[in-house]
Amino acid sequence: MKVLIATPEASPFVKTGGLADVTGALLREFRRMDIDAYLMLPLYSAIRDAFYLADTGMRLTVPVGDRRYNSRIWSYGSDVYLIECNEFFERPELYGTPEGDYPDNAARFTFYCRAVLEACMAVGIRPDVIHCNDWQTALMPLYVKTLYRTEFFSKTATIMTIHNLGYQGLFDVSDFPLTGLGWEWFNPEGVEFYGRVNLLKAGLIASDIITTVSPTYAREILTDEYGFGLDGVLRKRSSDLYGVINGIDYEEWDPGRDGSIPANYNLSDISGKALCRKALIDECSLKGNRDAPLIAFVGRLSAQKGLDILLESVGDIVSMGGRFIILGKGDEHFHKGVLGLAEKYDGSVYVKIGYDEAFARRIYAGSDIFLMPSRYEPCGLGQLIAMRYGTVPVARKTGGLADTIIDYNPLKGDGTGFLFEDYKASALRECLRTAFSVFVDKRRWRGMIISAMGMDFSWKNSALRYVELYDTAIKGKRA
Ligand code: ADP
Ligand code: GLC
Repeated sequence: MKVLIATPEASPFVKTGGLADVTGALLREFRRMDIDAYLMLPLYSAIRDAFYLADTGMRLTVPVGDRRYNSRIWSYGSDVYLIECNEFFERPELYGTPEGDYPDNAARFTFYCRAVLEACMAVGIRPDVIHCNDWQTALMPLYVKTLYRTEFFSKTATIMTIHNLGYQGLFDVSDFPLTGLGWEWFNPEGVEFYGRVNLLKAGLIASDIITTVSPTYAREILTDEYGFGLDGVLRKRSSDLYGVINGIDYEEWDPGRDGSIPANYNLSDISGKALCRKALIDECSLKGNRDAPLIAFVGRLSAQKGLDILLESVGDIVSMGGRFIILGKGDEHFHKGVLGLAEKYDGSVYVKIGYDEAFARRIYAGSDIFLMPSRYEPCGLGQLIAMRYGTVPVARKTGGLADTIIDYNPLKGDGTGFLFEDYKASALRECLRTAFSVFVDKRRWRGMIISAMGMDFSWKNSALRYVELYDTAIKGKRA
């Protein structure tokens, strides 16, 4: 089976969020499984600056609207291809700056989708399945059925994975001609969305199989509350929609070997975690009671992640004795909000605005509680990494958080975390209060740490599940 993973980001090359972790880890897992898998990425300047790439010698001319763009194909190792087009990708960021998205994103990712298909033909990779990830790749399934309905792709099935329905690639109708599709596709059954172009819809209507990153999110997106206006489209395709839970790369995320944390530890001896905790308290200059519960938040500072109820709760939680470490970047008004709290509760709340993987690792290792009060969460990797590092998650019961965290059972005294349902600051505070009451019971807390660390969130099972779905898609296509 030949698999092509199409994605706008993948670790270790470029990352803005969990999508990169997932696509990078999936490729590595497929290598371990001896599956013939390839990855194709846009050649952003950040990749060119950091990796030694080889020129394949392949040159493409890719049409986008009425222009044609020259492109070179580079490679890294034997299974990663990078698609060059400096006009589109030689920029400081992937999708936009804090001022907003790049205005030519429709052209950039239309180019990418066509260039991937052209590159397959040029390099001679005839995929049995193209695994598309998020809106930036979503034209490919429709292209394979229209502009690229050729002998070369006649046996190629497509899978569309939704990592976050909140991002759909919505553009003005004036961008539609860039796609090269006929106007017969610009209607509500096609890629039109209330008068605009919706690139994700191309993938949702045309792919052989749709997946998303947890079983609960797969159900949630069929509802008005979580469907972002696409629930109707998804309900029509519900028999082809599957939830496959994300894993994390167990070699990359391993407290037993992590070189960024002050002391290593594992399930058989967790004593190093206390050293990591002590170092983290010092690093963040937290004052007062060193035994007070240490609550961490690492993630994008966006409405999705529950920042409003988090901001609303911090004061009360500090008065309950909790202390906070917040690492993230995102919306400007949330930056201001968290920085304001750091100032107000100096010594109890530490905030760093920015993206810092080494610091994130020290936080995962050194904290007691990992907070994810998400409004919605397709899967979430933060809680998986936290559990692997023995940090107990407190999270809203939604999407992948509901599927991966075992809620504390007060009767049995077990579980791997604490969940709350209502999207309200009061529910978050109540949940943390329960967590604090267990935290003071050192024996029970230790039991939860051990249970969390003992969970298996490696990629093995989910990678196998993808292979099964690839098979289903391929058989469906060839039937
Ligand atoms: P999402 O993809 O919605 O942003 P996930 O929980 O799936 O959320 O993945 C987030 C990933 O990005 C995790 O690996 C997390 O550790 C990392 N991350 C998020 N923000 C930061 C940051 N400011 N610094 C370092 N790592 C971060
Ligand atoms: C998205 C989601 C997150 C998920 C990640 C990887 O960014 O917000 O929940 O874990 O994609 O699938």
